[in-house]
Amino acid sequence: MKKIVVAISLVMMGYLAVAQRTVPIIPEPQSVKVNTGNFTFYKNTQYLAPTAWKPIAKYLQQITSSSIHTLQKGNTRIVFKENKKLAPSEYTLEVKANSITIFASDYAGALYGAQTIVQLWYTTTTPSHIACVTVKDKPRFEYRGLMLDVSRNFYPVSFIKSLIDVLSIYKINNLHLHLTDGAGWRIEIKKYPLLTDQAAFRTHKTWKEWWKNGMGYLKKGDPLAYGGYYTQNDAKEIVAYAAAKAINVIPEIEMPGHSDEVLAAYPNLACDSVTNRSGEFCIGNDSTFIFMQDVLTEIMQLFPSKYIHIGGDEAAKGHWKKCTKCQKRINDNGLKDVDELQSYAIKRMEKFIASKGRYLLGWDEILEGGLAPGARVMSWRGEQGGIDAARQNHDVIMTPGGTCYFDKYQQNPAGEPEAIGGFLPLQKVYEYEPMPAVLEKEKQQYIKGAQANLWTEYVPTQEHAAYMIFPRIIALSEVVWSNPAAKNWAQFQEKLAAHYQLLQAFNVNYCRPSNRVDIVTSIDTTFQTATIRFNSEQYQPTIYYTTNGTEPTTSSNKYSMPFVIDKKVTIKAAILNAKKSVPDSVLINFHKAFNKPVTYIIPFSKAYPAAGPKTLVNGYRGTLTYQDGQWQGFTSNIEVVIDLQKVDTVSLVQANFMQIIGPGVYMPKYIEFETSMDGVNFTNQGRDNNTVSPKESSLLFKDFKVQIKPTAARYIKFISKLQSGFQFIDEIIVE
Ligand code: ACM
Repeated sequence: MKKIVVAISLVMMGYLAVAQRTVPIIPEPQSVKVNTGNFTFYKNTQYLAPTAWKPIAKYLQQITSSSIHTLQKGNTRIVFKENKKLAPSEYTLEVKANSITIFASDYAGALYGAQTIVQLWYTTTTPSHIACVTVKDKPRFEYRGLMLDVSRNFYPVSFIKSLIDVLSIYKINNLHLHLTDGAGWRIEIKKYPLLTDQAAFRTHKTWKEWWKNGMGYLKKGDPLAYGGYYTQNDAKEIVAYAAAKAINVIPEIEMPGHSDEVLAAYPNLACDSVTNRSGEFCIGNDSTFIFMQDVLTEIMQLFPSKYIHIGGDEAAKGHWKKCTKCQKRINDNGLKDVDELQSYAIKRMEKFIASKGRYLLGWDEILEGGLAPGARVMSWRGEQGGIDAARQNHDVIMTPGGTCYFDKYQQNPAGEPEAIGGFLPLQKVYEYEPMPAVLEKEKQQYIKGAQANLWTEYVPTQEHAAYMIFPRIIALSEVVWSNPAAKNWAQFQEKLAAHYQLLQAFNVNYCRPSNRVDIVTSIDTTFQTATIRFNSEQYQPTIYYTTNGTEPTTSSNKYSMPFVIDKKVTIKAAILNAKKSVPDSVLINFHKAFNKPVTYIIPFSKAYPAAGPKTLVNGYRGTLTYQDGQWQGFTSNIEVVIDLQKVDTVSLVQANFMQIIGPGVYMPKYIEFETSMDGVNFTNQGRDNNTVSPKESSLLFKDFKVQIKPTAARYIKFISKLQSGFQFIDEIIVE
């Protein structure tokens, strides 16, 4: 007995010794061992590196000599050494009391070793000292990217550079610039000066105002013009700056759609039958291909990237059907339809790009009508495009909208700057797995990595762009770099808490961790119990909660571990020492319709089935987003019949709806319900009308209720009248 106790306490001590000394490196390295002792940086610490890596040593020296705490004289050295046995981007870092050695086989690996030291430097609690560690590290995926849309809003070179500085610290190695789109052409092309003279500036500052006011362009130099572009010198400067930080810059030149601005400057490239504004090139016109090839020739001279992105997304193919030149192209080439016409255009561009030794990269629409031989695919409409392309042996970068679109809200929309819609909190990014489980083992090699995309229709300043990117890109860095088995959300939160100092040192405007408490329920239908767990973006917050509907105070229950509820209660929880601590609240209710059969007279939307037919009576409440799997969506009225499976007494029917008008989600006009004993003859029991204005633009929730005198019923017909767009409902409560 005694022996076991001793063994356990030794294990615990061992565990504690390890637990006390960890280092907050993000992304989590393949292996990290923390040793005793510290390395000390002095003003005269030596930095030694092979010639090609001297800029890395200099960068590290600049950072580590910046502290006022750094002592003048000591005897420590930092040595970069080449080891050809290591893979590209791989590095080994040995931090000892008097020396740091970084081994790598290439520039990127040497830089990543240095960036790991940079992280230790900024996150250490002992100025000018970092813990002695041994790190062995290499990336899981070769492609780790961020896309910035500089067309919908233009950002200066200085911002791009500062972004590169921080992306590199997190070992992101591709910056994709969406350089062209209807909202403005952003790169100087010598052969086509009208692109920047006439289509790089617009009439209104924000995309939204511009969109509402006719989407006009203004000439360069017009006093009212808003926008800008990168000169060819700017582009070279960005590319060189990024290369020094081991970041490849991928230019995207959109075709055949999203090109309204080109056609405004060069209307001869549009279809002949089009009179209205259109964003698509005429594929029947050879000038289109001459234009694209000329533009890409200059682009490839500026950007050494092996990937050249040609867009390919969301082309409206309708006017190609009416255009005589497009129809001639279809006939001359024996094409079946406009999908194949688009594919013809992409294949022709792919041939051109491949002839220059580069790879064409495009959004997953380039699969339509047949994929060009050497094309590589960015899968954005979910993962299916990526899976299909990988199965055809084409390289793929995963960037599905649900987990990689940083234009979505990251916290409760009610307190956030207006975004395009959707909800992508930090944890959801962190939990993304780019390798689709369904993909056959031999095809997995084609998944090259993942990328986050920041579309900027609603992001009019550089501070706002940084806010949308950070810290979500830091979560993605661990998705694309680290071993999935080494990922751990709680540990990531702890590390991230230390990294805020680094972001502050680099003047990054990042989204602060939310003070909200997420109340997570897990329902057992057999025993009618709910296990309650609280989540937060704060690291180790103190959470107080109540189960009687009152506001939590510091005398309320203090949360320590999950607990079980077996009756109707309202749970409220809050982090009280934080500013803005609005309690989160959830009603747990094993009501009379709980887990009973539901028949849909009108089906739910295929796009938003939530948890299927049981959703409306499963006891789970929806959260802040209609994409959470608990909000069921309808583009029609809702009409369902619930079978209570016995005659019961009914006195209340209640249902919760949400409104977020950006993506077209509105409260219903009203709800009503009917009762029946036989499921055939129903009696109307009354209605509850909507009181929320459809103009109310922030995220709102409303419980609709119809209360009656106790009435015997076996069947409940629930009806909810659509107002507009979508209606989303999470639960129908019957009492
Ligand atoms: C895209 O979001 N249209 C690629």
